[in-house]
Amino acid sequence: MEQSKETINSIPINGKVSNCDENIDHNSTDDVLLDVDIGDPIMYYPYWKSVDEECSVTIKASAFLSYFVNLNKDEFFYHVPGFTDAIRRIHRVVGNAVTEGRYIIAGTGSSQLFNYLLLALSNTVTSGTTNKRVPVVCAAPYYGLFAASVETEKSSMYEWRGDTRTFDDKEGPYIEVVTSPNNPDGLWRKPMVNREGGMLIHDLAYYWPQYVPITGPADYDIMLFTMSKFTGHAGSRIGWVIVKDKELASALMNQSFLRTIGCCQEGQLRAKTILNFIADSYEKTPIPKVMPTTTTENLFEFGYRVMSDRWEMMKAAVKQNNLFNLLEYPDQHCNFFGKFHLPNPAFAWLESKTGEDASELMREHKIQARKGAMFGSSLHTKCVRITMVGSDDQFRLLIQRLSSPPSSVHLDEVPSISKVDINGN
Ligand SMILES: Cc1ncc(COP(=O)(O)O)c(C=O)c1O
Repeated sequence: MEQSKETINSIPINGKVSNCDENIDHNSTDDVLLDVDIGDPIMYYPYWKSVDEECSVTIKASAFLSYFVNLNKDEFFYHVPGFTDAIRRIHRVVGNAVTEGRYIIAGTGSSQLFNYLLLALSNTVTSGTTNKRVPVVCAAPYYGLFAASVETEKSSMYEWRGDTRTFDDKEGPYIEVVTSPNNPDGLWRKPMVNREGGMLIHDLAYYWPQYVPITGPADYDIMLFTMSKFTGHAGSRIGWVIVKDKELASALMNQSFLRTIGCCQEGQLRAKTILNFIADSYEKTPIPKVMPTTTTENLFEFGYRVMSDRWEMMKAAVKQNNLFNLLEYPDQHCNFFGKFHLPNPAFAWLESKTGEDASELMREHKIQARKGAMFGSSLHTKCVRITMVGSDDQFRLLIQRLSSPPSSVHLDEVPSISKVDINGN
Protein backbone atom coordinates (compact mmCIF):
# COMPACT_ATOMS: atom_id res chain seq x y z
CA MET A 1 0.00 0.00 0.00
CA GLU A 2 1.41 3.39 -0.92
CA GLN A 3 1.08 6.29 1.48
CA SER A 4 -1.08 9.10 0.18
CA LYS A 5 0.32 12.59 -0.23
CA GLU A 6 -2.17 13.85 2.30
CA THR A 7 -1.11 11.44 5.05
CA ILE A 8 2.56 12.17 4.64
CA ASN A 9 2.27 15.92 4.25
CA SER A 10 0.12 16.18 7.36
CA ILE A 11 2.75 14.60 9.60
CA PRO A 12 5.10 17.50 10.18
CA ILE A 13 2.37 20.09 9.93
CA ASN A 14 -0.14 18.92 12.50
CA GLY A 15 2.63 17.75 14.84
CA LYS A 16 0.45 14.94 16.20
CA VAL A 17 2.85 12.11 15.58
CA SER A 18 5.82 11.47 17.79
CA ASN A 19 8.20 10.10 15.21
CA CYS A 20 8.45 10.86 11.53
CA ASP A 21 9.63 7.30 10.92
CA GLU A 22 5.89 6.78 10.70
CA ASN A 23 6.35 7.98 7.13
CA ILE A 24 7.24 4.37 6.41
CA ASP A 25 4.48 1.82 6.55
CA HIS A 26 6.23 -1.16 8.10
CA ASN A 27 3.75 -3.64 6.67
CA SER A 28 4.01 -2.42 3.14
CA THR A 29 7.71 -2.03 2.38
CA ASP A 30 8.58 -5.61 1.50
CA ASP A 31 7.49 -5.29 -2.06
CA VAL A 32 8.59 -1.77 -2.90
CA LEU A 33 11.91 -0.15 -3.70
CA LEU A 34 13.47 1.69 -0.75
CA ASP A 35 14.38 5.18 -1.88
CA VAL A 36 17.72 6.25 -0.39
CA ASP A 37 18.53 8.58 -3.25
CA ILE A 38 17.90 11.98 -1.64
CA GLY A 39 19.93 13.43 1.23
CA ASP A 40 16.89 14.51 3.23
CA PRO A 41 18.23 15.08 6.78
CA ILE A 42 15.39 13.43 8.72
CA MET A 43 17.86 11.69 11.07
CA TYR A 44 17.86 14.83 13.25
CA TYR A 45 14.16 14.47 14.06
CA PRO A 46 14.52 12.56 17.39
CA TYR A 47 17.00 15.12 18.70
CA TRP A 48 14.87 18.15 17.84
CA LYS A 49 11.71 16.42 19.06
CA SER A 50 13.37 15.95 22.46
CA VAL A 51 14.01 19.71 22.79
CA ASP A 52 10.80 21.02 21.23
CA GLU A 53 9.78 22.75 24.43
CA GLU A 54 13.13 24.48 24.95
CA CYS A 55 13.74 25.53 21.38
CA SER A 56 10.77 26.88 19.51
CA VAL A 57 9.83 30.13 17.83
CA THR A 58 6.53 31.96 18.09
CA ILE A 59 5.86 34.55 15.44
CA LYS A 60 3.09 37.06 16.10
CA ALA A 61 0.68 37.95 13.30
CA SER A 62 1.95 41.52 13.43
CA ALA A 63 5.62 40.58 12.93
CA PHE A 64 7.61 41.03 9.69
CA LEU A 65 5.22 43.19 7.73
CA SER A 66 7.96 45.26 6.17
CA TYR A 67 10.39 44.15 3.48
CA PHE A 68 13.03 45.98 5.47
CA VAL A 69 14.34 44.88 8.81
CA ASN A 70 17.40 46.92 9.17
CA LEU A 71 17.84 50.15 7.30
CA ASN A 72 20.89 51.29 9.18
CA LYS A 73 24.62 50.93 8.67
CA ASP A 74 26.58 47.68 8.51
CA GLU A 75 23.87 45.06 8.54
CA PHE A 76 22.15 44.34 5.26
CA PHE A 77 18.60 45.59 5.13
CA TYR A 78 16.95 42.17 5.21
CA HIS A 79 18.92 40.49 7.98
CA VAL A 80 16.92 39.94 11.15
CA PRO A 81 18.74 41.49 14.17
CA GLY A 82 21.04 38.94 15.75
CA PHE A 83 21.01 36.56 12.76
CA THR A 84 24.60 37.16 11.67
CA ASP A 85 25.74 37.30 15.31
CA ALA A 86 24.30 33.80 15.82
CA ILE A 87 26.22 32.58 12.77
CA ARG A 88 29.48 34.10 13.96
CA ARG A 89 28.87 32.59 17.39
CA ILE A 90 28.26 29.04 16.18
CA HIS A 91 31.36 29.11 13.98
CA ARG A 92 33.37 30.35 16.97
CA VAL A 93 31.99 27.59 19.20
CA VAL A 94 32.70 24.86 16.64
CA GLY A 95 35.93 26.39 15.33
CA ASN A 96 35.14 25.50 11.72
CA ALA A 97 35.29 28.91 10.00
CA VAL A 98 36.82 32.33 10.41
CA THR A 99 34.15 35.02 10.55
CA GLU A 100 36.00 37.97 12.11
CA GLY A 101 36.23 40.83 9.65
CA ARG A 102 34.10 38.92 7.13
CA TYR A 103 30.71 39.68 5.63
CA ILE A 104 27.85 37.24 6.08
CA ILE A 105 24.92 37.16 3.68
CA ALA A 106 21.81 35.02 4.12
CA GLY A 107 20.06 33.18 1.33
CA THR A 108 17.22 30.80 0.62
CA GLY A 109 19.47 27.82 1.19
CA SER A 110 23.05 27.87 0.00
CA SER A 111 21.70 26.86 -3.43
CA GLN A 112 20.38 30.37 -4.01
CA LEU A 113 23.64 31.94 -2.86
CA PHE A 114 25.59 29.67 -5.19
CA ASN A 115 23.74 31.17 -8.16
CA TYR A 116 24.18 34.71 -6.87
CA LEU A 117 27.89 34.08 -6.45
CA LEU A 118 28.30 32.90 -10.03
CA LEU A 119 26.69 36.02 -11.35
CA ALA A 120 28.55 38.37 -9.03
CA LEU A 121 31.93 36.73 -9.71
CA SER A 122 31.51 36.49 -13.47
CA ASN A 123 30.38 40.10 -13.52
CA THR A 124 33.74 41.18 -12.13
CA VAL A 125 35.58 39.73 -15.12
CA THR A 126 33.22 39.97 -18.07
CA SER A 127 32.04 43.55 -17.82
CA GLY A 128 32.98 45.16 -21.12
CA THR A 129 36.05 43.03 -21.81
CA THR A 130 34.93 39.84 -23.52
CA ASN A 131 31.88 37.98 -24.74
CA LYS A 132 33.18 34.64 -23.51
CA ARG A 133 31.14 33.03 -20.78
CA VAL A 134 33.09 32.29 -17.59
CA PRO A 135 33.60 28.52 -17.22
CA VAL A 136 32.37 26.97 -13.97
CA VAL A 137 34.07 23.69 -13.04
CA CYS A 138 34.22 21.19 -10.21
CA ALA A 139 36.17 17.97 -9.72
CA ALA A 140 33.93 14.93 -10.34
CA PRO A 141 32.25 13.27 -8.62
CA TYR A 142 30.35 16.42 -7.68
CA TYR A 143 26.92 17.38 -6.34
CA GLY A 144 24.71 17.23 -9.44
CA LEU A 145 22.59 20.28 -8.64
CA PHE A 146 25.58 22.57 -9.24
CA ALA A 147 25.52 21.56 -12.89
CA ALA A 148 21.75 21.37 -13.18
CA SER A 149 21.14 24.83 -11.76
CA VAL A 150 23.75 26.45 -14.01
CA GLU A 151 22.52 24.65 -17.09
CA THR A 152 18.90 25.55 -16.37
CA GLU A 153 19.80 29.18 -16.02
CA LYS A 154 21.38 29.47 -19.51
CA SER A 155 23.28 32.54 -18.36
CA SER A 156 25.08 34.71 -20.88
CA MET A 157 27.76 35.37 -18.25
CA TYR A 158 28.85 31.88 -17.19
CA GLU A 159 28.48 28.27 -18.24
CA TRP A 160 28.87 24.86 -16.66
CA ARG A 161 32.00 23.13 -17.99
CA GLY A 162 31.91 20.10 -15.71
CA ASP A 163 34.81 18.06 -14.38
CA THR A 164 38.09 19.90 -13.70
CA ARG A 165 39.96 16.97 -15.27
CA THR A 166 38.50 17.71 -18.69
CA PHE A 167 38.84 21.49 -18.37
CA ASP A 168 41.74 22.51 -20.58
CA ASP A 169 41.39 26.29 -21.06
CA LYS A 170 44.95 27.46 -20.65
CA GLU A 171 44.09 31.04 -19.73
CA GLY A 172 41.25 33.32 -18.78
CA PRO A 173 38.98 33.52 -15.78
CA TYR A 174 37.17 30.50 -14.40
CA ILE A 175 35.19 29.61 -11.30
CA GLU A 176 35.95 26.38 -9.44
CA VAL A 177 33.63 24.92 -6.82
CA VAL A 178 35.46 23.07 -4.06
CA THR A 179 33.22 21.02 -1.78
CA SER A 180 34.82 19.75 1.43
CA PRO A 181 33.89 17.23 2.65
CA ASN A 182 32.63 16.33 -0.78
CA ASN A 183 29.15 15.21 -1.76
CA PRO A 184 29.01 12.34 -2.79
CA ASP A 185 32.30 10.73 -1.68
CA GLY A 186 33.01 12.46 1.66
CA LEU A 187 36.62 13.25 0.74
CA TRP A 188 38.38 16.48 1.65
CA ARG A 189 38.86 18.48 -1.54
CA LYS A 190 41.47 20.96 -2.66
CA PRO A 191 41.31 23.18 -5.76
CA MET A 192 42.34 21.21 -8.86
CA VAL A 193 42.92 23.72 -11.64
CA ASN A 194 45.24 26.08 -9.77
CA ARG A 195 46.08 28.69 -12.33
CA GLU A 196 45.81 32.43 -12.68
CA GLY A 197 42.28 33.71 -13.22
CA GLY A 198 40.69 31.20 -10.87
CA MET A 199 37.89 32.22 -8.51
CA LEU A 200 37.10 29.66 -5.85
CA ILE A 201 33.81 28.93 -4.13
CA HIS A 202 34.30 26.68 -1.10
CA ASP A 203 31.12 24.81 -0.25
CA LEU A 204 31.43 23.65 3.38
CA ALA A 205 27.89 22.32 3.86
CA TYR A 206 29.26 19.21 5.63
CA TYR A 207 32.13 20.71 7.61
CA TRP A 208 30.53 20.01 11.00
CA PRO A 209 31.76 17.68 13.77
CA GLN A 210 29.14 14.96 13.28
CA TYR A 211 30.46 14.36 9.76
CA VAL A 212 34.16 15.04 9.87
CA PRO A 213 36.92 15.91 12.36
CA ILE A 214 37.20 19.69 12.69
CA THR A 215 40.88 20.32 12.06
CA GLY A 216 40.78 24.13 12.17
CA PRO A 217 38.80 27.17 11.13
CA ALA A 218 38.35 27.33 7.36
CA ASP A 219 39.67 30.61 6.05
CA TYR A 220 38.77 30.93 2.38
CA ASP A 221 37.63 34.01 0.45
CA ILE A 222 34.15 32.58 -0.19
CA MET A 223 32.58 29.94 2.08
CA LEU A 224 29.06 28.54 1.74
CA PHE A 225 27.20 26.97 4.67
CA THR A 226 23.63 25.80 5.15
CA MET A 227 21.26 24.83 7.95
CA SER A 228 20.13 21.87 5.83
CA LYS A 229 22.90 19.38 6.58
CA PHE A 230 24.21 21.01 9.72
CA THR A 231 21.11 21.05 11.96
CA GLY A 232 18.78 19.17 9.63
CA HIS A 233 16.43 22.13 9.09
CA ALA A 234 16.47 21.83 5.31
CA GLY A 235 12.86 22.97 5.11
CA SER A 236 13.67 26.35 6.64
CA ARG A 237 15.75 27.03 3.53
CA ILE A 238 18.42 29.12 5.23
CA GLY A 239 22.00 29.19 4.05
CA TRP A 240 24.74 31.76 4.33
CA VAL A 241 27.92 32.79 2.63
CA ILE A 242 30.96 34.23 4.38
CA VAL A 243 33.02 36.51 2.17
CA LYS A 244 36.13 38.59 2.65
CA ASP A 245 35.51 41.14 -0.04
CA LYS A 246 33.18 44.05 0.66
CA GLU A 247 32.31 44.64 -2.98
CA LEU A 248 31.37 41.02 -3.46
CA ALA A 249 29.20 41.20 -0.35
CA SER A 250 27.42 44.27 -1.73
CA ALA A 251 26.94 42.58 -5.11
CA LEU A 252 25.37 39.57 -3.39
CA MET A 253 23.07 41.77 -1.36
CA ASN A 254 22.11 43.57 -4.53
CA GLN A 255 21.25 40.24 -6.15
CA SER A 256 19.16 39.33 -3.16
CA PHE A 257 17.28 42.61 -3.46
CA LEU A 258 16.75 42.46 -7.22
CA ARG A 259 15.71 38.83 -7.39
CA THR A 260 13.76 38.18 -4.19
CA ILE A 261 13.75 41.46 -2.21
CA GLY A 262 15.71 39.84 0.59
CA CYS A 263 15.45 36.49 2.32
CA CYS A 264 12.58 35.10 4.44
CA GLN A 265 12.66 36.77 7.86
CA GLU A 266 10.79 33.93 9.60
CA GLY A 267 13.46 31.50 8.40
CA GLN A 268 16.24 33.72 9.70
CA LEU A 269 14.55 34.09 13.07
CA ARG A 270 14.20 30.32 13.36
CA ALA A 271 17.81 29.79 12.29
CA LYS A 272 19.00 32.37 14.83
CA THR A 273 17.05 30.64 17.62
CA ILE A 274 18.34 27.20 16.70
CA LEU A 275 21.96 28.33 16.30
CA ASN A 276 21.90 30.13 19.65
CA PHE A 277 20.31 27.10 21.26
CA ILE A 278 23.16 24.90 20.01
CA ALA A 279 25.81 27.46 21.00
CA ASP A 280 24.25 27.81 24.48
CA SER A 281 24.36 24.05 24.96
CA TYR A 282 28.15 24.19 24.57
CA GLU A 283 29.00 27.55 26.07
CA LYS A 284 26.84 27.06 29.13
CA THR A 285 27.78 23.41 29.63
CA PRO A 286 31.34 22.43 28.68
CA ILE A 287 31.91 19.64 26.19
CA PRO A 288 31.97 16.40 28.20
CA LYS A 289 35.23 14.46 28.24
CA VAL A 290 33.33 11.21 27.91
CA MET A 291 30.59 10.90 25.31
CA PRO A 292 27.33 11.53 27.19
CA THR A 293 24.36 9.24 27.45
CA THR A 294 21.56 9.76 24.95
CA THR A 295 19.47 11.71 27.45
CA THR A 296 22.09 14.39 28.04
CA GLU A 297 23.71 14.71 24.67
CA ASN A 298 23.75 17.90 22.62
CA LEU A 299 23.33 18.17 18.86
CA PHE A 300 26.86 17.28 17.79
CA GLU A 301 27.13 14.30 20.17
CA PHE A 302 23.75 13.09 18.95
CA GLY A 303 24.75 13.55 15.30
CA TYR A 304 28.14 11.95 15.82
CA ARG A 305 26.67 8.94 17.68
CA VAL A 306 23.99 8.31 15.08
CA MET A 307 26.36 8.75 12.16
CA SER A 308 29.13 6.58 13.58
CA ASP A 309 26.66 3.81 14.53
CA ARG A 310 25.24 3.94 11.03
CA TRP A 311 28.68 3.80 9.45
CA GLU A 312 29.56 0.73 11.50
CA MET A 313 26.37 -0.95 10.32
CA MET A 314 26.98 0.11 6.73
CA LYS A 315 30.53 -1.32 6.75
CA ALA A 316 29.29 -4.61 8.20
CA ALA A 317 26.46 -4.87 5.65
CA VAL A 318 28.77 -4.10 2.71
CA LYS A 319 31.25 -6.70 3.95
CA GLN A 320 28.55 -9.33 4.25
CA ASN A 321 27.05 -8.47 0.87
CA ASN A 322 30.48 -8.62 -0.79
CA LEU A 323 29.37 -6.88 -4.00
CA PHE A 324 30.65 -3.37 -3.32
CA ASN A 325 33.75 -1.50 -2.20
CA LEU A 326 33.46 1.36 0.26
CA LEU A 327 35.98 4.18 0.49
CA GLU A 328 38.21 4.11 3.55
CA TYR A 329 38.83 7.38 5.39
CA PRO A 330 41.76 8.15 7.69
CA ASP A 331 41.06 9.33 11.22
CA GLN A 332 42.14 12.82 12.22
CA HIS A 333 42.25 14.87 15.37
CA CYS A 334 39.00 16.76 15.88
CA ASN A 335 39.60 20.03 17.72
CA PHE A 336 35.95 20.21 18.66
CA PHE A 337 35.62 16.79 20.32
CA GLY A 338 39.24 16.84 21.44
CA LYS A 339 39.98 13.36 20.12
CA PHE A 340 40.87 11.45 16.97
CA HIS A 341 37.93 10.10 15.03
CA LEU A 342 36.95 8.83 11.61
CA PRO A 343 34.82 10.88 9.23
CA ASN A 344 31.15 9.85 9.06
CA PRO A 345 30.13 11.22 5.65
CA ALA A 346 26.51 12.11 4.98
CA PHE A 347 26.54 9.74 2.00
CA ALA A 348 27.99 6.30 1.36
CA TRP A 349 29.73 6.14 -2.02
CA LEU A 350 29.92 2.54 -3.12
CA GLU A 351 31.61 1.02 -6.13
CA SER A 352 30.64 -2.34 -7.59
CA LYS A 353 33.49 -4.83 -7.33
CA THR A 354 32.85 -6.23 -10.79
CA GLY A 355 32.56 -2.88 -12.59
CA GLU A 356 28.83 -3.39 -13.21
CA ASP A 357 26.39 -0.49 -12.80
CA ALA A 358 26.10 -0.34 -9.01
CA SER A 359 22.60 1.17 -9.12
CA GLU A 360 21.33 -1.93 -10.94
CA LEU A 361 22.91 -4.16 -8.30
CA MET A 362 21.18 -2.05 -5.66
CA ARG A 363 17.83 -2.48 -7.39
CA GLU A 364 18.29 -6.22 -7.08
CA HIS A 365 18.31 -5.58 -3.34
CA LYS A 366 15.20 -3.41 -3.76
CA ILE A 367 17.22 -0.28 -3.02
CA GLN A 368 16.92 2.84 -5.15
CA ALA A 369 20.19 4.78 -4.86
CA ARG A 370 21.53 7.66 -6.91
CA LYS A 371 23.46 6.56 -9.98
CA GLY A 372 27.14 7.42 -10.02
CA ALA A 373 26.81 8.89 -13.53
CA MET A 374 24.74 11.71 -12.05
CA PHE A 375 27.84 13.10 -10.34
CA GLY A 376 29.53 14.55 -13.35
CA SER A 377 31.57 11.83 -15.00
CA SER A 378 30.93 8.61 -16.92
CA LEU A 379 33.89 7.18 -14.96
CA HIS A 380 31.51 6.74 -12.05
CA THR A 381 28.81 4.55 -13.59
CA LYS A 382 30.03 1.66 -11.45
CA CYS A 383 29.38 3.81 -8.33
CA VAL A 384 26.28 4.66 -6.43
CA ARG A 385 25.37 7.13 -3.66
CA ILE A 386 23.26 6.24 -0.66
CA THR A 387 22.03 8.74 1.90
CA MET A 388 23.17 8.14 5.48
CA VAL A 389 21.01 10.94 6.96
CA GLY A 390 17.49 9.58 6.49
CA SER A 391 15.15 8.34 9.22
CA ASP A 392 16.02 5.45 11.55
CA ASP A 393 13.44 3.18 9.96
CA GLN A 394 14.68 3.94 6.49
CA PHE A 395 18.23 3.18 7.56
CA ARG A 396 17.31 -0.08 9.32
CA LEU A 397 15.49 -1.28 6.22
CA LEU A 398 18.45 -0.28 4.08
CA ILE A 399 20.86 -2.33 6.18
CA GLN A 400 18.48 -5.28 6.23
CA ARG A 401 18.20 -5.25 2.44
CA LEU A 402 21.87 -4.67 1.82
CA SER A 403 22.80 -7.59 4.08
CA SER A 404 20.34 -10.00 2.43
CA PRO A 405 20.77 -11.88 -0.84
CA PRO A 406 19.30 -10.18 -3.95
CA SER A 407 15.58 -10.72 -4.15
CA SER A 408 13.69 -12.72 -6.73
CA VAL A 409 11.06 -9.99 -7.03
CA HIS A 410 10.39 -8.92 -10.60
CA LEU A 411 11.67 -5.36 -10.42
CA ASP A 412 9.76 -3.98 -13.39
CA GLU A 413 6.63 -4.42 -11.32
CA VAL A 414 8.02 -2.86 -8.19
CA PRO A 415 6.69 0.57 -7.23
CA SER A 416 8.92 2.95 -5.29
CA ILE A 417 8.55 4.76 -1.97
CA SER A 418 9.87 8.04 -3.15
CA LYS A 419 10.22 11.35 -1.41
CA VAL A 420 10.56 12.91 -4.87
CA ASP A 421 6.99 11.87 -5.64
CA ILE A 422 5.85 13.23 -2.31
CA ASN A 423 7.67 16.51 -1.91
CA GLY A 424 8.94 17.27 -5.39
CA ASN A 425 12.51 17.81 -4.11
C1 LIG B 1 27.43 20.13 -1.32
C2 LIG B 1 26.07 20.72 -1.18
N1 LIG B 1 25.93 22.04 -1.33
C3 LIG B 1 24.72 22.61 -1.24
C4 LIG B 1 23.58 21.87 -0.98
C5 LIG B 1 22.25 22.55 -0.92
O1 LIG B 1 22.01 23.14 0.30
P1 LIG B 1 20.72 24.01 0.60
O2 LIG B 1 19.70 23.10 1.17
O3 LIG B 1 21.19 25.01 1.58
O4 LIG B 1 20.27 24.68 -0.65
C6 LIG B 1 23.69 20.50 -0.82
C7 LIG B 1 22.50 19.69 -0.57
O5 LIG B 1 22.50 18.49 -0.61
C8 LIG B 1 24.96 19.91 -0.94
O6 LIG B 1 25.13 18.59 -0.81
